[in-house]
Order: sequence, then C-alpha cells, then structure tokens
Amino acid sequence: MSLPGNLHVAIIMDGNGRWAQLRGMPRSAGHIQGAKTVRRIVEASAHAGIRTLTLYAFSSDNWGRPGTEVDSLLKLLRCYLATEARRCLRHAIRINVIGRRDRLPRDLVSAIEQSERLTAGGSRMRLRIAVDYSSKHSILEAARRASRNALSVQDFQELLAEVDHAVPESGPVDLLIRTGGEQRLSDFLLWDCAYAELYFTDHLWPDFGESELREALTDFARRQRRFGKVLAETA
Ligand code: FPP
Repeated sequence: MSLPGNLHVAIIMDGNGRWAQLRGMPRSAGHIQGAKTVRRIVEASAHAGIRTLTLYAFSSDNWGRPGTEVDSLLKLLRCYLATEARRCLRHAIRINVIGRRDRLPRDLVSAIEQSERLTAGGSRMRLRIAVDYSSKHSILEAARRASRNALSVQDFQELLAEVDHAVPESGPVDLLIRTGGEQRLSDFLLWDCAYAELYFTDHLWPDFGESELREALTDFARRQRRFGKVLAETA
C-alpha cells in the first residue's frame, strides 16, 4: 500500500456510549475502554507511518452532556496525558492539544502543558488531541483577529493555528475516519478537511483496532485525489 509521506489522519472516535450500553455498563465505562483504544491506535498509527494523527476527544458541544459524564471525560483526559506522555516521549511522538483552554479545569491545563513540553522534541509522529474544540469557534476567532487586514490563505491558517494552540505545519487532513456508524463532521476540522477523503465505519470506537485502521488506510490508498483539478493524462 502506498501512502503519502506526510499523511495526516483525523478520527472522530464515536460509539463509546453505545459500546457500554450494549454491555449494561455506564457510559463512562465506554470512555475508559475508548481511552485504551486510543493508546493502541496511537502506536499503530506511528507504526503505519502516519505523520499527524488528530483525535476528537471532547467537542465544545460536549459541555452539554450530563455533568458526571463531562467530569469523567475530563478526568480521563488528564490521566491519559499524565501517563501517556512518557510513553509518547519513548516513541518520539509529539503531543499537541488543540482547542480552547480558557474553560478547562486548571489541573487539566497543567497536564496539557506538561505533556506538550515533555514531548516537544518528538519527530516521528504528531499526536493532536482536540479538547473543547469547535471549528466554527476557531474560524470565527481567527476572523476576528484578522479583522480588516488583507490576509493570504497561509496567513489565515497561521491565525487559526494560533487560536487552536496548534503547533505549526500540521498540514491539511488527508483522511478523516469516523467510527460508530454516523456520517457527519460534527464541527471538527472544517477548514483542514477541505479536501479530506472521508471514511465511515460502523465499528464502535472501543472495537476499532489495528486491522480496522489498516482497512481504512488501504481504502484511502485506492482513492483518486484530484483537488479540484483533472488528472494530467485526461487534461
Ligand atoms: C463519542 O462517543 C466520544 C466522545 C465524546 C469522547 C471520546 C473520548 C475517548 C475516546 C476517551 C478519551 C480520549 C483520550 C484521547 C484519552 P459517544 O459517547 O458519543 O458514543 P455514543 O454515540 O455511542 O453515545
């Protein structure tokens, strides 16, 4: 399978709640299992040669979930960052948490900053985790900062990265995977996905493994990407 050297894959990790409910467990148990899947998929992605992996962990709309679920998700994220940063350091994976930080608990912001500092030298893969993330908010905020200046697409992209606390040069998304059977973008990376290939699978996130990732990458490798142009041989 031939993949681009600078491959950016983004994943909407859907289906934790249903996975738990199917087993008569609380939704939080699905998120715990989902975090285990994150660990496996991060390693499998680095192994597969993915250069940037962006995971949708907590959308700005997720604040509307019951308080107990929000608390358990934020706690899980803090634990993940605290325990996985060293593992990422060993695997030369650079962590970058994108999204708003002004509404997150102080201890989570500290865990984010520490994990980003610790892994800043990682050059094998960039692991971006979207927390309190909303594309619409990011685009609006970047537009507000741009105000009346005449900006190039590149300038605007840099402003977006600044709004999102994103490290530079993550590049556009090549492949967007959504698990859990739904087929929508849910306010995730709307700008970055302008030419992304979309891949939807019925697998619930906790059941998504290395072979399902390989299947998605194989499907992607077969896609013909034209970026609005025509192929040279048909021009
Ligand atoms: C959507 O499933 C999933 C989320 C809102 C949270 C995703 C979080 C994790 C996978 C675990 C923590 C993340 C990291 C990076 C450690 P859902 O709850 O909406 O599922 P449902 O559609 O079945 O209800």
